[in-house]
Order: sequence, then structure tokens, then C-alpha cells
Amino acid sequence: MYAPAVSDLSAELWQSAARVLDLNWSGDHTVPSRRLYPHQWSWDAAFIAVGLAYVNPTRAWRDLRSLFEAQWPDGRVPHIVFDPDTAEDDYFPGPGVWNVPAYGRRRARSSTGLVQPPLHALAAWEVYRHASAHGAACVAEARTELAWLYPRLVAQQEYLAERRDAGGTGLAAIVHPWESGLDNSPAWDTVLDAVPADMSLLELHRRRDVAVTDAAQRPTDEDYARYIGLVLNYRDGGYSDTELAQRHPFAVECPGFNSILATAELALAQIAGVLGRTTDARRHRDRAREITAVVSRRLWDPDTRTFRARDARTGRLSPARCVSGLLPLMLPDLPAGQADAIMTEIRSERFGLPAPSADRTAPSFDTHRYWRGPIWINVNWLLRRGMQVHGHHGEAEELRRALLRLVHEHGHYEYFHPETGQGLGAPAFSWTAALCLDLLADRSAPAYAR
Ligand code: SER
Repeated sequence: MYAPAVSDLSAELWQSAARVLDLNWSGDHTVPSRRLYPHQWSWDAAFIAVGLAYVNPTRAWRDLRSLFEAQWPDGRVPHIVFDPDTAEDDYFPGPGVWNVPAYGRRRARSSTGLVQPPLHALAAWEVYRHASAHGAACVAEARTELAWLYPRLVAQQEYLAERRDAGGTGLAAIVHPWESGLDNSPAWDTVLDAVPADMSLLELHRRRDVAVTDAAQRPTDEDYARYIGLVLNYRDGGYSDTELAQRHPFAVECPGFNSILATAELALAQIAGVLGRTTDARRHRDRAREITAVVSRRLWDPDTRTFRARDARTGRLSPARCVSGLLPLMLPDLPAGQADAIMTEIRSERFGLPAPSADRTAPSFDTHRYWRGPIWINVNWLLRRGMQVHGHHGEAEELRRALLRLVHEHGHYEYFHPETGQGLGAPAFSWTAALCLDLLADRSAPAYAR
């Protein structure tokens, strides 16, 4: 096993993290959690690959390959790829609800029709970057896998840039809160208020999540009724993205999702460089700058000096301050004034480090409920990268240590109580374990940092 050279490495935490990833390995992919999420999730697979890069790079590549084998012909990478060996009733909404044909030749598996933040180029770059620590055979493997993934990663970006530009602004819109990865964030409240909550849908379809987790830590039934209504609307339109803003009640430009979209272009530039595609590398860097410029212009609220989600249908900015509004810090070309404003927001009583998922001072803040207050390791890991990119190395290090302390004291939970640190949601959660490995081992700043 690769032994990272860091002085304060906690052997116990390292081993427990590696054990979680081992337990959650399902032959050709990693499940986020055995009981709550028994299939393959898209952005989870990216975070998981970042950790597997240290303990089992071959599995990291296998996991990414397995996800991209289920990529749709239009380029979308589904947010869940269903495991045919898992029963329909073990997850809701399962394959029967989505009714998507199985894509992929080697082992065709069906999926959802939604996407999640496109973090996979960044993950692939990180796995490649660490390959040399494992020897020449791993470097050769990494090059082969990068070459296989590159056109698929490009197709994923093109789908989002072309088909999901619902507002015609140059940003990708999400069509469901699940696409943000931040499911019940207060960022969507005002848009969801206009989506009917048909509670009879929950009589027809039974929630499985609340049978295996504390309901107080999950989205409410009303949230779920809206989620299912949105799924059925998108499904019944054949998962088409034509005239989205007119046909679909949820089309939102999320600052987190679009910052990840731009970061993916920067990672693709690095990958294209390794593959000797210098013209492509330049094109990816230009794309990253273009997306950054639109995020900076369109999702910025000059009155509060914060980034907000924008409803692509009405043009209105969300009134809620959420962790997704801090993620543009990942962008190296973000104007310095906006990066400084994000740091001010992070240091304010509304957030603090590690950052909770939503504004601590807002009436909607809920210490237990999924994305409405608890601390998540993955978004803090992204924030740490942003701090490094903009030269805030002291706070990045403070955050790294705080995240490791949290997991060391409370376990590899899905999320954490923002005041007590109590572990919430699923235990033995894969991305928490995977990112712990990275936080323990890697103190280097992103290669595209200033
Ligand atoms: N996060 C969602 C769930 O809770 C789906 O992606 O199942």
C-alpha cells in the first residue's frame, strides 16, 4: 500500500478509511453506502476515485470506467447507474421508475436520466497525478485510462454546455435539485415553492431512505413529492432538454455546479497536455475562462457580495446563502474582489470552518437535515482547493486539520452536526473515507493555482 510522506499522518484514520472503501467495493464500482445508496452515484464516483488513487489506483480507474460505460449517446453521464444485482425495492426511485434503456456494451446497466456535477475530469487528473507513486506499471495504466476517458469527458462537458444552457447564458442549468448533489439545499426553496407537491405520489411510491435512516436527517415528504413530480415530468418528456425553461418547472443555474464545470475544463486542459493535444488544451483553458466570466457576472449579487443560484426561467437570484455560493472560489480567474468577498463570507458568523451546508444565521438552518445545515466533507474539500488556488494557505491548512479531526472523532459519516460534530446520515460513507485519504496524504496546491 502507498505510504504517504506526511508527518502527522494518523495511521488509524488511514486504515479505517481504506477499510470503508474496501467494504463498499462491489466488483466494478464503489457504492456510496451499503444500505442507503446501494448503486453507483456519479459525483460520488469522482470523489471516491480521488481516495482510491492512494490505496488502489486500478479500482479508481475501474470505478470511473464503470460509470462512463453507462454514458448516454447524447453525452450525459447519469447521476445513478443501477446495479442489476440489487433489488428494485432496495432504493427509491429505482430503475423501474426511471425507465431508461441500459447503455454500455460490456455490462449494460440502466440509469437515471439526471446528471450530477461533472467532477470526473478533476478526479481522473488526480488519479493520474498520483500514479507515479505506485511505479511504472501504474503510470502506463493511468495513461491508457486517461486516453479512454478523455473523449468521454469532453462529450460530458459538451452535453452540459450545449443541451443544458436553458437560459441561453453560457451556463449549464440543472433540472432537478438532485443534479446539484445538494438535494434539499435552501438554495432551491423559492423555485420549488412553485412546483406542486402532489402528496399522493408518495402513496403510490414508498420512500426507502427513511426506512434505513432517521427521517429527521433526510429531506421531508413534501420535498420528496416535489422531487418525484420533477422526475416524472422530465421522464415523460423523454428526458429531452429542448425548450427546458418553457417545459420544465425547475431550471436553475447553480454556482457550485458551474464552478465545477469550469474546473473540469482546467483539468481537461491538463489531461489534453499529457495526451499531446496542445490545441485542445488551449481550448479547454479558454472555456474555463469563459464559464468563469459568466459565473462572475450572472450569479453574483452585488448588494450582498455573494454568489447565488439563479432561476433560469424567471431570472431571479435565490435569496438563500448556501455553501454552493462559496464554490466559485475554486476558479483561478475569478476577479480578486469576488474571491475576497467569498473569504469574508466564509469567515463570517454565517459559515466558519468547516463550512456548514447553509447559512447558520438563517431561519431555515437545520442542524440535522441533509443539506440544510450539516457539514459535508466533499464541499469543504472543494473549498480547501479554492483557498489554495487563491493563496489562503493558512486557512486551507486549518480546514484540512479540522476536517480530519471531525472524521477521526466521529467516524466516516455522510455528514456531521455543525455544532456538536455528531455523525449523521449513513455511516461508513465512501466519499468521506476517500477524501480523508487525500486530506491525510496530499498538501500540494492544485497545479493550476496562481
Ligand atoms: N441524493 C439522492 C438520494 O438521497 C439521490 O441522488 O437518494
